[in-house]
Amino acid sequence: MAEPVTICEVAPRDGLQNEAAFVATEDKVRLIDLLSATGVRYIEAASFVSPRLVPQMANGGDVLSGIARRSGVVYAALTPNLKGYEAAMTARANEVAVFAAASESFSRRNINCSIEESLVRYRDVCRAAERDGMPVRGYVSCAIACPYEGPVVPEAVCRLAVALLDMGCREISLGDTIGVAWPEQVEMLLDAVLRQVPAAVIAGHFHDTHGRARACIRKALELGIRVFDTSAGGTGGCPFAPGARGNVATEKVVQMLSDEGYETGIDMGALEKASALIAQLLGRPA
Ligand code: HMG
Ligand code: MG
Repeated sequence: MAEPVTICEVAPRDGLQNEAAFVATEDKVRLIDLLSATGVRYIEAASFVSPRLVPQMANGGDVLSGIARRSGVVYAALTPNLKGYEAAMTARANEVAVFAAASESFSRRNINCSIEESLVRYRDVCRAAERDGMPVRGYVSCAIACPYEGPVVPEAVCRLAVALLDMGCREISLGDTIGVAWPEQVEMLLDAVLRQVPAAVIAGHFHDTHGRARACIRKALELGIRVFDTSAGGTGGCPFAPGARGNVATEKVVQMLSDEGYETGIDMGALEKASALIAQLLGRPA
C-alpha cells in the first residue's frame, strides 16, 4: 500500500496574500469549496493580521463563514497575536497557526517585533488555545535564508522549533520563505532539527522561486518528513519578503508524490478545477 503524505493547501492564504488583486469573499469561498472537494484534509483558509498591512486578507471572517465545511477537512487561519486568535475563534477556524522567523530582520518587518517578543505573543496565543481546545501549528520562516540577512544557521531554526513545540504547537512548518534552498541545505537543516525533534512533527513549506522546491521535498521525504505545504496553481509569496515567488504548486507535488509511490488522497481532476479558478481570478493563463 502507498505510504501517505499530508498536503496542507495554502492557496487561499499564502497564495493570495501577496497578489495585487483583491479577491472578493464569494470568489475565495468558491475557491475553498473547490479545494474542499479535492480530497485535501487541511486548508489554510484565512489570516487574521493587520488589514492595513495585508489588505488581501481583510475578509477572512466572511470567508470562513461563507464556506461549505466538509467533514474531515481542517480550515486553518494564521494568527499573529491574541487579537488575531480571538478573530479566528469567532470565525470558527478549526486550527490556528502562529508564525515566528529565524531572522531578526524578517521578524521585525513581518510582524513588527523581535523574535523573543514574538515568542511571548505566541505563548499567550498557545495558552488561550489550550484553554479553548484549539490546535496550534507553528511556522518558522526564513528557515534557510532571510531576504535581509542572507543565510540562516540551522541552530536558529532548531531553537525556535523547540520553543514553539514546548509552548504547545502540534507541528512545526519550516519555511523556505524566499525559495532559495538547495537539497543539500535542506539536509543540513533537517539533520540538525531531527536531532532534537521527531520527523512526525515537522512539515516542509517550500517556495519555488528557482524551481528547486520539488528536489527539496524529495530530500525531506528521504529524511522522513511526510507533511508539505503547497499552493494550488503555484501562487504565493509574502509582502515582507522581497523576491519571494509562489509556493510550490500542489498539482506538481501531488503528481511527483504519486509517481514516487506516495498517496495524498487528492484527486487531480478536482485540483485542476481549483487551480483554473485561481488563474481566472488572478487573470493568469491556466
Ligand atoms: P503592530 O502594529 O505591531 O500591532 O502589528 P499593534 O498591536 O501595535 O496594533 C497596531 C494596529 O494593528 C492596531 O490598529 C491593532 O488593532 C491592529 P489601530 O488601533 O492602529 O487601528 N492589529 C490587528 N488587526 C487585525 N488583526 C490583528 C491585529 N493585531 C493588531 N491580528 C501585526 C503587529 C503582527 C498585527 C502586524 O505586523 C501584521 O499584521 N503583520 C502582517 C504579517 C503577515 O501577515 N505576514 C504574512 C504572513 S507570514 C508568511 O507569509 C510566511 C509563511 O508563509 C511561512 C513562510 O513562507 O516562511 C507563514
Ligand atoms: Mg509562505
